[in-house]
Amino acid sequence: MIVLRTRDAVLAWRQGLADGATLAFVPTMGFLHEGHLSLMREARRRAGDDGVVAISIFVNPTQFGPGEDLDRYPRDEAGDLAKAAAAGVDVAFCPADPAELYARSRTWVEVEGLDRHLCGRSRPGHFRGVTTIVAKLWGLIRPDVAIFGEKDFQQLAILRRMHADLNLGGEIVGMPIVRETDGLAMSSRNANLDPASRAAARAIPGFMAEVRRRFDGGARSVDALIGDARDALEPGVIDYVEVVDAELLEPIAEITGPALCAVAVRFGGVRLIDNALLRP
Ligand code: PAF
Repeated sequence: MIVLRTRDAVLAWRQGLADGATLAFVPTMGFLHEGHLSLMREARRRAGDDGVVAISIFVNPTQFGPGEDLDRYPRDEAGDLAKAAAAGVDVAFCPADPAELYARSRTWVEVEGLDRHLCGRSRPGHFRGVTTIVAKLWGLIRPDVAIFGEKDFQQLAILRRMHADLNLGGEIVGMPIVRETDGLAMSSRNANLDPASRAAARAIPGFMAEVRRRFDGGARSVDALIGDARDALEPGVIDYVEVVDAELLEPIAEITGPALCAVAVRFGGVRLIDNALLRP
């Protein structure tokens, strides 16, 4: 596997790629887990034997707000590179320094509206950081396909809008949430949970499963689906528990079309998210 450290090295590598070979790309912030690896395996499958799989590993500072966990975000580059190689990755872009992507930068990419709800409300500026870095990486890598996880459903919706609005070319593919054996959605941040918080965090998948059971049993009012969230997610500190229209991400009171139940809850100070798509 080739490891590239600078923007210039990526540009030179990209210029040397043969025309016609599928280039599949998975952007990450590292501390790779099975969720990331499922995206890389899908990238390998889509690229085929003649194609190329590229990833980036970059903890993007502009998507963290003041007081958020940028400094505590877990990192393990050597471990990540070994896992990526085993998953069939050909090229990893691991910028030596944020300046490789941000030096002299004056441009921000912002998708209006979709960031008003869910994580956007409690993390102002977060999605602007995400769209800006993904647009920068897209311009460097110029993938045929880029693969993202559906755990970050709002991120994926916003990136799809940006991709269409800016005519970036290629395709965006979303992949299902990968879960631990007890149901907790895989996340690099799970590594920051102490044992008691890790055990308590099982309340999230338990609650999501209950919401799905109620939905499958015919419940359509949001109150019937999530009205008891506060009790069910104890002792977690709720950032939000909402049911929104799956396309516009706007809160709804009754499910009549595709909807998303999305939660963000802190356990032991670690902010965890999860979601379930509910299709009537
Ligand atoms: O989902 C992530 O890991 C990040 O938000 C992304 C898309 C790599 C941008 O930094």
